[in-house]
Amino acid sequence: MEIIHLSAECYPIAKVGGLGDVVGALPKYQNKLGHVAKVVMPAYETKFFRENEFESVYDGWGKLGFQHFSVRIFREKTNKLGFDLYLVHIAGFTDRPNVYGYADDTERFLAFQIGVLDWMAQWEHKPDVIHCHDHHTGLVPFMTAHCNKYRHLNQIPTILTIHNAQYQGQFGWDKLNYLPPFDLWKAGQLDWKGAINPLASAIKCCWRITTVSPSYLEEISYRANGLEALFARERGKSVGILNGIDNEVWNPTADAMLEKQFAVRTVDNGKKANKQALCDVFNLDASKPLFTFIGRLVDEKGADLLPEIFNNALWQHKGEINILVLGSGDPQVEGRLFQLKDAFPGNYNAYIGYNEQLSHQIYAGADFLLMPSRVEPCGLNQMYALRYGTIPIVRRIGGLKDTVVDIGDGGFGICHDQTSAWDVGHAIGRAMELYNDKKKMKEIRKFMMNIDHSWDKAAQEYINLYQI
Ligand code: ADP
Ligand code: GLC
Repeated sequence: MEIIHLSAECYPIAKVGGLGDVVGALPKYQNKLGHVAKVVMPAYETKFFRENEFESVYDGWGKLGFQHFSVRIFREKTNKLGFDLYLVHIAGFTDRPNVYGYADDTERFLAFQIGVLDWMAQWEHKPDVIHCHDHHTGLVPFMTAHCNKYRHLNQIPTILTIHNAQYQGQFGWDKLNYLPPFDLWKAGQLDWKGAINPLASAIKCCWRITTVSPSYLEEISYRANGLEALFARERGKSVGILNGIDNEVWNPTADAMLEKQFAVRTVDNGKKANKQALCDVFNLDASKPLFTFIGRLVDEKGADLLPEIFNNALWQHKGEINILVLGSGDPQVEGRLFQLKDAFPGNYNAYIGYNEQLSHQIYAGADFLLMPSRVEPCGLNQMYALRYGTIPIVRRIGGLKDTVVDIGDGGFGICHDQTSAWDVGHAIGRAMELYNDKKKMKEIRKFMMNIDHSWDKAAQEYINLYQI
């Protein structure tokens, strides 16, 4: 089969969170299964774009209302990522360093989608599937189904994967003229609660919906940032497929970013060396347990509670605990996490920012990883932690519920039911006890590292789903 993945992110070109990891791995695993999976994404001003060789495969003009824009599509020449990569360059829209966060994001991602479809409409052959990821590519199912210009594409099945229904990309009806002409009777397919809502439109118009874990599929019919009723209505065409991880990128036996590589057999010494290196850099005490949080500092992740959680834990287990944070996001939370450094030197530290290499080093060197998420459609951090022998402490929700089993139930993690300072504090207490049971820690680490979360299985599940 030929599968076209459309996405705003793809590791290692541009990654903000897990969407990038998924789109950088799933196509590779689909190709290994003998299919042809390609990734098409915006050409941001990235190091990858500057430093690799590309050939131009398309030159054209697109239109957004009365504004014309030039489109140039580049193909990465060497296939070094394990899939064909196409970068869509739209002057004035995509040529910026960041993926999101600009006032004209609506225009940027709409121009991207129009540029891609203009290009695909000229292909002599048709791919078997267009696989859209999140709302940034959510108007594609509508446009292929209803825009006259793209009628040659309307028989190609469209799949929508929802990585996070919190973000929907809605904009006002005053921008309706951005879309290429379509049968106005179909305008209702764009609408949700009085706005044009790309995620809602994709849910209505795509052939199949997937969520990134089975539990998240259950949850969104009662909690989906206003889309609950729509999900309930479209449930029949939806399925939850648990994300995998890229076992080549996240492999402690070969990870060049680590101080010391390690395998299941050598986990104790391996983690010890990585922990020591981290503690040296961040002025922490390597003889004490190391807890960490890695991620976007947003309410969804429970980040607003972290300062209180850490402050409590550092008082309660005074001198007996280390905490290291890696994250960026809400400036207020960033500030509070930064300030804590002064209160607990030697036991607490924070790196405010994004740092891919440091994230690998922390997964390898930490003892426990906290994920007190309010919403977690899948979560990849806990799976990376498992592979690197770090025990996850997670709220029982979404993909966390599907991947972590509490030690009390014969499992390997620590689970709690609510995103509250009390629940997480209690979980940290349980982790402190566990840490002192060296035999049990050893057993759990070995067990966790052997769990197979690679993409092999899920890549095939998507292929089965495409055979509509
Ligand atoms: P989400 O996509 O909601 O942010 P996931 O758990 O799916 O959550 O994926 C997060 C990904 O982003 C992981 O690869 C994680 O290691 C990475 N990540 C998040 N914040 C940072 C950061 N500050 N520095 C480096 N990597 C980060
Ligand atoms: C989203 C979700 C996260 C998921 C990731 C990859 O960013 O918040 O839970 O793991 O997408 O699917």
